[in-house]
Amino acid sequence: MVCFRLFPVPGSGLVLVCLVLGAVQSYALELNLTDSEKATCLYAKWQMNFTVRYETTNKTYKTVTISDRGTVTYNGSICGDDQNGPKIAVQFGPGFSWTANFTKAASTYSIDSISFSYNTGDNTTFPDAEDKGILTADELLAIKIPLNDLFRCNSLSTLEKNDVVQHYWDVLVQAFVQNGTVSTNEFLCDKDKTSTVAPTVHTTVPSPTTAPIPKEKPEAGTYSVNNGNDTCLLATMGLQLNITQDKVASVININPNTTHSTGSCRSHTALLRLHSSTIKYLDFVFAVKNENRFYLKEVNISMYLVNGSVFSIANNNLSYWDAPLGSSYMCNKEQTVSVSGAFQINTFDLRVQPFNVTQGKYSTAQDCSADDDNFLVPIAVGAALAGVLILVLLAYFIGLKRHHAGYEQF
Ligand SMILES: *[C@@H]1O[C@H](CO)[C@@H](O)[C@H](O)[C@H]1NC(C)=O
Ligand SMILES: *[C@@H]1O[C@H](CO)[C@@H](O)[C@H](O)[C@H]1NC(C)=O
Ligand SMILES: *[C@@H]1O[C@H](CO)[C@@H](O)[C@H](O)[C@H]1NC(C)=O
Ligand SMILES: *[C@@H]1O[C@H](CO)[C@@H](O)[C@H](O)[C@H]1NC(C)=O
Ligand SMILES: *[C@@H]1O[C@H](CO)[C@@H](O)[C@H](O)[C@H]1NC(C)=O
Ligand SMILES: *[C@@H]1O[C@H](CO)[C@@H](O)[C@H](O)[C@H]1NC(C)=O
Ligand SMILES: *[C@@H]1O[C@H](CO)[C@@H](O)[C@H](O)[C@H]1NC(C)=O
Ligand SMILES: *[C@@H]1O[C@H](CO)[C@@H](O)[C@H](O)[C@H]1NC(C)=O
Ligand SMILES: *[C@@H]1O[C@H](CO)[C@@H](O)[C@H](O)[C@H]1NC(C)=O
Ligand SMILES: *[C@@H]1O[C@H](CO)[C@@H](O)[C@H](O)[C@H]1NC(C)=O
Repeated sequence: MVCFRLFPVPGSGLVLVCLVLGAVQSYALELNLTDSEKATCLYAKWQMNFTVRYETTNKTYKTVTISDRGTVTYNGSICGDDQNGPKIAVQFGPGFSWTANFTKAASTYSIDSISFSYNTGDNTTFPDAEDKGILTADELLAIKIPLNDLFRCNSLSTLEKNDVVQHYWDVLVQAFVQNGTVSTNEFLCDKDKTSTVAPTVHTTVPSPTTAPIPKEKPEAGTYSVNNGNDTCLLATMGLQLNITQDKVASVININPNTTHSTGSCRSHTALLRLHSSTIKYLDFVFAVKNENRFYLKEVNISMYLVNGSVFSIANNNLSYWDAPLGSSYMCNKEQTVSVSGAFQINTFDLRVQPFNVTQGKYSTAQDCSADDDNFLVPIAVGAALAGVLILVLLAYFIGLKRHHAGYEQF
């Protein structure tokens, strides 16, 4: 669940967050600080957790992860005045406290420093701690933000110092809010800037003067579905999604390293479901026809687009990848599965067997070149040659006839 919240930030940061948060649930913190006139002066919403290493009484080290479970208070948070800058102060759990300081310059403001304090005397969080007492980890940040901009950083930020590692994500903050209204201008952290330009996504605007950006071939991945201990479905393929919206095509290569498969196998229908951080599901449903052949009957996709919206489409009346039961379907050249006018899948180095997989291996393949244009090429060449031959013979006979005619005349 936490992973989904981080979208639209595909890529490594996302994966990292999922790993870090694997065990410990964290909740969003939110502070809407108002001044004496009840106008918002500081707004912040963010998530964080901490990993603390400490020495135990038997001279070994232990590591604990701390998140803001339970009640959270914001005592000591201030809008700031002539002497002091704005400050966020948070208290949570048994004796944890966290503060952030802000300062202002002519046209910018800064998140100056962050400080996290914990009490190793708390023997439920820090059992067998050798030294008991309050420890503080300070970090100088000096992140500069244009005045009247809302700072956003959905990506994971990690601060590491001595025994404390601090993690922050889904951060939104604005200090020195003007006229009591949180800004709609967002200032993105560097990590968010690079991740919104996802390297696998190229958007090509059709235009008569510019050719579309050539897209590299997607890497092939092997996906499988198990039934008990046995593999019941196998698919090897490089997948390229082509989504057309508002006359703009987005071509997305699927990275097999970060895409996982599940599914199900029944006697007359088989499902291969792929999913990743951006693909909620991409279903390939296979069916049996005439009790002796299989084919791709349905594709159903739901995925997050770069701008965070969800794209969903399905078609259960397809007819692709047709081959006899007990064999696999193979196609090394590029093929297109047209799901709808707005969505097509380009496949490369495809081999798929949705039924009758034995011992986890593909059975003999039926190759796509046997049933398409490639097959027609020799026929066309043959027909052309035959045509030439007929012409030559015709010319010869006509010539011969003239010759004869000549003889008859004279
Ligand atoms: C913050 O609180 C003020 C006053 O209660 C309210 O008008 C404003 O909409 C709140 N802003 C946010 C972002 O929650
Ligand atoms: C925040 O600022 C106050 C004074 O403005 C200072 O005393 C305090 O040490 C600062 N806190 C951090 C964590 O830097
Ligand atoms: C924690 O400390 C309290 C008293 O400070 C003690 O009664 C308790 O047994 C300690 N718990 C553990 C797990 O050491
Ligand atoms: C705040 O209000 C003042 C006066 O109404 C206006 O001049 C100024 O542009 C406003 N600032 C912003 C950031 O909206
Ligand atoms: C799967 O394999 C394990 C060990 O190889 C075996 O104990 C188990 O019974 C098998 N399960 C099925 C459903 O075949
Ligand atoms: C993507 O789809 C559009 C519209 O169907 C098409 O014009 C374009 O050639 C396709 N691009 C690729 C790489 O398949
Ligand atoms: C997938 O992993 C392999 C092996 O680690 C690597 O060579 C390849 O570049 C990776 N592919 C992508 C698209 O990241
Ligand atoms: C995302 O982009 C698509 C097309 O580019 C558009 O139709 C959709 O409305 C956008 N969604 C948001 C939330 O901006
Ligand atoms: C596509 O999948 C969704 C979710 O599993 C399902 O609700 C929907 O009915 C499916 N569409 C088709 C056409 O199968
Ligand atoms: C399914 O496709 C076939 C041919 O591709 C077409 O004749 C038929 O009307 C379609 N059925 C539906 C329900 O769209």
